[in-house]
Amino acid sequence: MKTLVVGSGFVGRAIARHLLDHGDEAVLASRTPPFADGAPVTPDWVPLDVAVPGAFAETLHRTAADTVVLVHGPSDVTWCESHPEEAMAGHAGAARMVAEAAGDRRVVFISTDNVFDGTAVTSSESTPTHPANAYGRAKRAAEDVLSALPGAVLLRVSLIYGWETADTPKWLNFFASCVHRLRAGETVAAPYDQWTTPVLIDDVAEATRALVTTATAPKLLHLGGPDRISRADWAAGIAAALGVPRERVTAEPRAHGRYAHRPASTCLSSELFATHPATAALRPRPVQEATRLLLGRHLPPTVRSTA
Ligand SMILES: NC(=O)c1ccc[n+]([C@@H]2O[C@H](COP(=O)([O-])OP(=O)(O)OC[C@H]3O[C@@H](n4cnc5c(N)ncnc54)[C@H](OP(=O)(O)O)[C@@H]3O)[C@@H](O)[C@H]2O)c1
Repeated sequence: MKTLVVGSGFVGRAIARHLLDHGDEAVLASRTPPFADGAPVTPDWVPLDVAVPGAFAETLHRTAADTVVLVHGPSDVTWCESHPEEAMAGHAGAARMVAEAAGDRRVVFISTDNVFDGTAVTSSESTPTHPANAYGRAKRAAEDVLSALPGAVLLRVSLIYGWETADTPKWLNFFASCVHRLRAGETVAAPYDQWTTPVLIDDVAEATRALVTTATAPKLLHLGGPDRISRADWAAGIAAALGVPRERVTAEPRAHGRYAHRPASTCLSSELFATHPATAALRPRPVQEATRLLLGRHLPPTVRSTA
């Protein structure tokens, strides 16, 4: 089975590598080549602007892919807020190109918790959507287009985290940003009033592969981690795991920082994930366990706390 993974950023690269690691074929596609992040496996890559008419159809034909994962940008919530039309074209416009060409192929669309306004403590598949920002509106519009496809799966994922190197040429995911800044001796200011259910990138890749390969997939599925945590508490936990003084994390209101455009509660729960045959065996990891796993993989033991 060959999967065309549209978007070769943080999430797309991890999904493509996970597919390759499990004996499947995967090819990445984006406008510019993927960042060489030093990981041992480099998936094949083809150039594609998915929003350009005809480009996705041509790439699908050329790669002869059986299945598709859509995990392209724009992904920056703050950028989308100041570029709402580009955000809409990048997601809903691109979804139309995919819908025209995908036929009955399985298409897994990595969607977001930002389709909700964040006023509920947590949102499940049956919670009515109500995006409160341009990013959420664009992703929700793309969901609408793609849901008409027979093979589409809308996988709404909470905030994704994992290891990224400090020289990654984009805004790092929250975990990686905290680790590198705390290790560099900086302080981290994080909101005490922005709540997430963070999910480890490995668990996202595993769930995506399960949905790509299963014979019967749900049309809509939520994936959040098992912990509901504020960014300030999460950052404090990372500091503790690194053995860095707690005072280097300062808690601030969401409205003061980079997270001003994010809903207060970007938390997802699922009525299906634990019971659907495609995902029932999967166990998204708690934040503390995943933190130990990531630091153990990427840092020498001397810089990790033994606490
Ligand atoms: N990261 C998270 O926490 C999270 C959570 C839920 C959902 N998601 C979704 O996952 C997707 C990817 O997130 P990410 O963190 O991996 O973002 P990212 O690191 O910014 O990567 C985005 C990728 O999309 C490509 N891209 C952008 N516009 C494109 C276009 N028109 N045609 C083809 N490729 C295009 C980018 O490369 P070029 O610019 O070179 O084309 C890049 O490779 C986003 O759609 C986001 O909504 C992410």
